[in-house]
Amino acid sequence: MKIIITKNYNDLSSKAVEFVVKEILRKKSAILGLPTGGTPMGLYRKLIKMKIDFSKIKIFTLDEYYGLDKNSNNSYYYYMKKYLFSHINIPEKNIYTLNGKAKNIDKECYQYEKLIKKNPIDLIVLGIGKDGHIGFNEPGSSLNSKTRLVNLDPSTRKANSIYFNNKIENVPKKALTVGISTIMSAKKILLLASGIEKADIIRNALKEDMSKDVPASVLKLHSHLTVILDNRASLNI
Ligand code: F6R
Repeated sequence: MKIIITKNYNDLSSKAVEFVVKEILRKKSAILGLPTGGTPMGLYRKLIKMKIDFSKIKIFTLDEYYGLDKNSNNSYYYYMKKYLFSHINIPEKNIYTLNGKAKNIDKECYQYEKLIKKNPIDLIVLGIGKDGHIGFNEPGSSLNSKTRLVNLDPSTRKANSIYFNNKIENVPKKALTVGISTIMSAKKILLLASGIEKADIIRNALKEDMSKDVPASVLKLHSHLTVILDNRASLNI
């Protein structure tokens, strides 16, 4: 595991973009797994400015709210379209997302997992929830878990309510997510964390023993894990 501590969020985003671009330049047809949320916004802004060629890149997103139409303002598809996809030259056919309104959710998850097996992810970028979730793998998730429908923790729904007019009741109770084993199957993992509110969980995940209660703690088992933190998120390590 390599830990890079940066002095602020802007530097974290610069280091993260450097890492991602290096991977794309190394392999023009790289397959990426990308998250939504506040943390990767700076990375996406910088990536867009670099005008990198995405014509051969494939991108898998990590999760989606259950029951939300992909065109709803709160869907993760909409987020990725707004903050990344519509600004880069990635062909639509190279974008893989989970459909939160699929008629047969089990089949949707099974097929996504199969697609990832067929297109092994070179680099997966992750944020981390305050409860240690990665993707939407909440505490208690099994190391062997694959893409599936999960219940969201009340703390995750509360954190994400900022995107739902601060009304927790508007945040879906379930989501589709790639599993822990899906994440661990990526050739490289880049974990990003910013802000003081992530300092405790970063300590638990990186410095304490591995535990099902802290899903991100299993990342330590990966042979190519890089963690980029800003000064605040690194305060307790
Ligand atoms: C989102 C995702 C989540 C977020 C996590 C942190 O696609 O997979 O695991 O990375 O909830 O979110 P932020 O960055 O908003 O703190």
